[in-house]
Amino acid sequence: MIYNQFMLINPDPVIVGESFVKDYDALYKESIANPEAFWEKLAKELSWDKPWDKVLDWQYPYARWFVGAKTNIVANAIDRHLSTPAADKVAMIWVAQPTDSAQKDEVVTYTYKQLNEQVSKFANGLKSLGVKKGDKVMIYMPRVPEQFIAMLASLKIGAVHSVVYSGFSATALKTRVTDASAKVLVCTNGYPYGKKTVDSKANVDEALKDNKTIEHVIVVDRLKNGSGKTTPRDMFWSELVEKQSPECPTEMVEATDPAFILYTSGTTGTPKGVVHAHGGYMVGIYATLKLVFNIKPDDVFWCTADAGWITGHSYILYSPLINGVTTFIYEGTPTYPDIEIWWKLIDNYKITKFYTAPTAVRSLMKFGEEPLKKYRLSSLKILGSVGEPINPEAWLWFYKYVGHEKCPIMDTWWQTETGMHMITPVPSVGLKPGSAFKPFFGIEADVVDEKGNKVPPNTQGYLIIKKPWPAMLLDVYNNSKRYHETYFEKIPDVYFSGDSAKIDEDGYFWIVGRNDDVIKVSGHRLGSAELESAFVSHPKVAEAAVIGKPDDVKGESIKAFIILKQGITGDDVLKDELKQLVRKEIGPIATPDAIDFVDKLPKTRSGKIMRRVLKAQELGQPVGDVSTLED
Ligand code: WTA
Repeated sequence: MIYNQFMLINPDPVIVGESFVKDYDALYKESIANPEAFWEKLAKELSWDKPWDKVLDWQYPYARWFVGAKTNIVANAIDRHLSTPAADKVAMIWVAQPTDSAQKDEVVTYTYKQLNEQVSKFANGLKSLGVKKGDKVMIYMPRVPEQFIAMLASLKIGAVHSVVYSGFSATALKTRVTDASAKVLVCTNGYPYGKKTVDSKANVDEALKDNKTIEHVIVVDRLKNGSGKTTPRDMFWSELVEKQSPECPTEMVEATDPAFILYTSGTTGTPKGVVHAHGGYMVGIYATLKLVFNIKPDDVFWCTADAGWITGHSYILYSPLINGVTTFIYEGTPTYPDIEIWWKLIDNYKITKFYTAPTAVRSLMKFGEEPLKKYRLSSLKILGSVGEPINPEAWLWFYKYVGHEKCPIMDTWWQTETGMHMITPVPSVGLKPGSAFKPFFGIEADVVDEKGNKVPPNTQGYLIIKKPWPAMLLDVYNNSKRYHETYFEKIPDVYFSGDSAKIDEDGYFWIVGRNDDVIKVSGHRLGSAELESAFVSHPKVAEAAVIGKPDDVKGESIKAFIILKQGITGDDVLKDELKQLVRKEIGPIATPDAIDFVDKLPKTRSGKIMRRVLKAQELGQPVGDVSTLED
């Protein structure tokens, strides 16, 4: 069959037959008529220590869900399975990055029972170090089993974790540790990354140089060489857990108590600490995974994200476990030791649901479909996409060559702030390649102009959410003002997502991309202002402006416009120096692709750089309204 982006791809009848949701329209209508009843019904499928007095307390702009209830995410992710046959089911399969294509897989698996023991031991270890309810545990780790165990253990005792992506630099880590006033930090002594070894403990040491709050650093010996204990506050993970009991009661907390803080980029130079609660978050991620990926007990779910980002929190770890299935984790990247590693893993571990990012699909698509032909990929039932818009060409390639035209693609739109899928198909609906379909049940989304009025079909506008949802962020940590300003003041009475979108004549949503200064590089969320402040920390730089430029593989690439201080001339040596500086200040994921030295930057009369104008010029597009432009 020849496909194109304008067609409607109808679901396979087998998939429809197996689906929880057979009639999207009917269930959507019902859920919107009474969202609280919809969510309450799903919440009742989970375990609560004390039921709620009220499903939702909405005091604009703060939503509190399941008020009065007591629970813990871990009580649902682990404890509730221990008294069922799922206790002996594999909860987690972890495969290490091999050193070359010929190496036999190094695999670690945990049943729910075994995972409970590991989590309990580490939880007792944290307690022995004085970590209590509400204390912040910083986790700066690559994709290793201990990363997930540390997350679960923190929540189990009522502590709040904050995971920092391992690709962030020492400076970025320091900003986050300081803002969170964390008490304990968990890391590895390093990790393999392709052919290289990353010395991540050196970043930790640098980040903690003047730190006053971190009392203990727990180091996992991922390199298996006994290195990494460099200061008196350091101890090895193995030393801490060996003497601990494998039993630890789960601390029951208020449903509205914070579970974690996840820092994310926004419009200013400092990242925002997005705070999520136990109860609402847990219900939201449980329900979305279940209905969007049609989760069944025998599923082996593989989400290729990293727990340093929200996708890893919600859909590698918490939701698959809450749903009682097996979560699969591969330590490496899609192209090492070779470009077939993902397909090999799908066949070997019989992955049933595969959730990845457009950037990964595009980077593998470059090698054509030949490499895929060696693999059966017959265990796959449903595919998923997240993190940035998926272009129809990549969608169709994914559909044809990975899903063999039988697996629907769930293009899920959501954010760190939303915690859970917001605009997404379910497996039983007709799909349009490149569209994220329509809002999930209970979600009222729309596309509006700057005054909040709905725009006509196929017209670009601001993507907004009209009513609260269970996994909605509680607040911005230590900065409620920013919470109000970023999400609730641009357009009154609604949640402002920061994305632009269109809705077509059939009601399908098409996400265009960010309308603020967030840049998505290979799905990683970075802020223009963050990058600019890294540039201007160089003694030769006077001013900087950074934009995202469309990129065929990465989605967006980073371009910087730099004004140098008087008397300084720019050359390639300085460009390299600046690239290195940004890598050091933010991390390798933020390496600028292009730098232009300029004499002037477009500014408003009040002196604000108009990145929009720079971007339009760079892309040869109309510049739009320039009435506020100074010159
Ligand atoms: C973008 C990632 C188009 C969007 C879960 C959003 C998407 C930002 C999609 C949030 C999608 C995420 N289609 N764009 N399916 N999913 N985005 O916080 O711009 O890392 O605002 O959360 O990613 O990025 P974040």
